[in-house]
Amino acid sequence: MNEAQLLNTVLERQAPAVARCLSPLGRRAAFPQGIPFQASQAQDTEINACIGQLTDGAGDPLPLPGLQQATEQLDPKMAFLYSPQDGHESLRRAWAARQRRLSGTSVVDTALPMVVHGLTHGCSILANLFADPNTDVVVATPMWGNYRLIFELFTGARIKSYPFFREGRFNVAGLSETLQSVAGKAVIIFNFPHNPTGYTPQQEEIEAIVDTVVGHHGPAIALIDDAYHGLIYEPNLMRRSLFWELAERADPDKLCPMRLDGVTKELVFFGGRVGFISHPLMGEVQAALHAKLKCIARGTTNVPAGPSQALVLKALELPDLEDQIEQRTAVLKERYQRLKSELADLRSSKVRAWPFNSGAFALLEVDAAINAEQLRQNLIVEHSVGTVRIDGINALRLAYCSVATAAIPPLIRAIGDAVETFC
Ligand SMILES: Cc1ncc(COP(=O)(O)O)c(C=O)c1O
Repeated sequence: MNEAQLLNTVLERQAPAVARCLSPLGRRAAFPQGIPFQASQAQDTEINACIGQLTDGAGDPLPLPGLQQATEQLDPKMAFLYSPQDGHESLRRAWAARQRRLSGTSVVDTALPMVVHGLTHGCSILANLFADPNTDVVVATPMWGNYRLIFELFTGARIKSYPFFREGRFNVAGLSETLQSVAGKAVIIFNFPHNPTGYTPQQEEIEAIVDTVVGHHGPAIALIDDAYHGLIYEPNLMRRSLFWELAERADPDKLCPMRLDGVTKELVFFGGRVGFISHPLMGEVQAALHAKLKCIARGTTNVPAGPSQALVLKALELPDLEDQIEQRTAVLKERYQRLKSELADLRSSKVRAWPFNSGAFALLEVDAAINAEQLRQNLIVEHSVGTVRIDGINALRLAYCSVATAAIPPLIRAIGDAVETFC
């Protein structure tokens, strides 16, 4: 048996849903026993001639002085030398501790999260591992457009979608009907707060989602994309990730939840490119799964970036990190509230805001008689206002996260005026 077959045997025994969801590439994947593997075995040797990186011969880096000065605050080894394939352990532990703190109480054990090059990279690794032309990817529409590239274009999986809303709430019936139409394996994507609607389901909706997903015949991977985790502005909404609810109730023969989160929005570090893959598989099966995840990461971007990891670790060690995040979230909340009140005052029968309560976005549906793309162009040319048209619906997305509170009234006025010129 080769290494990949050995890993598959472990997964088949201990995580049947994961084993049955593997793509052909996923079945072949095993972290090669090449340079990083052999270097980790030799890490305590006196004379270590394993890794192709310039050191002083005793394991410390020899950076350019200019770069060293620019990163003075950072741990030089972490910033300048190659990272382990799954990220620095200190960072993984610090992130896991924060996830735990924010999870409320959960009885579920989770493996140390694996560091990836932003959430997109994490999503792409999971797609490579689990999706192929025999996979249904179940996701509500409208959706983050990159899922199409990551799953459909690169792996040939079939996207099976259902409308996000039904009577102003998350469409659990649509999810259930779509799952019933899945004959083989599935990747079921959830992203709350949601891009592009800016909606997070309420407690009863979450419970219905969990009942539906754990009741599915499987095998399935539930991919919880927590890109906008924590951006909650209403008191009655759940802050805890759906990941925990699913991890607590998943039957490993049928379902495995995989979580994607990261610093992009949560730590307001868009340029940082640090994301994490987390899951509830422990022990031997964790090692088998990580060997596959690391194999795919190594064959795409290789190891994650050192300076970003060092910066994020510094942030996670700040005693007032959560206060700092809260201050930024308060800025977003103010913009959210102003947008809500401006939309309530907008007396146009041609524009309708979809429900939104969290995250960074709001969707405005425009009357069928008005072409959203033409409206978008008109807003740029006549009003100097930028918005995004969303595929599949006649609507514009407003990223109010990047509009100052004072600019929100003129933004909504411009949309009202532009709509009138089309009537
Ligand atoms: C739903 C969703 N998931 C993932 C991402 C990607 O995050 P990252 O920039 O970390 O790759 C985004 C970014 O816009 C997003 O909206």
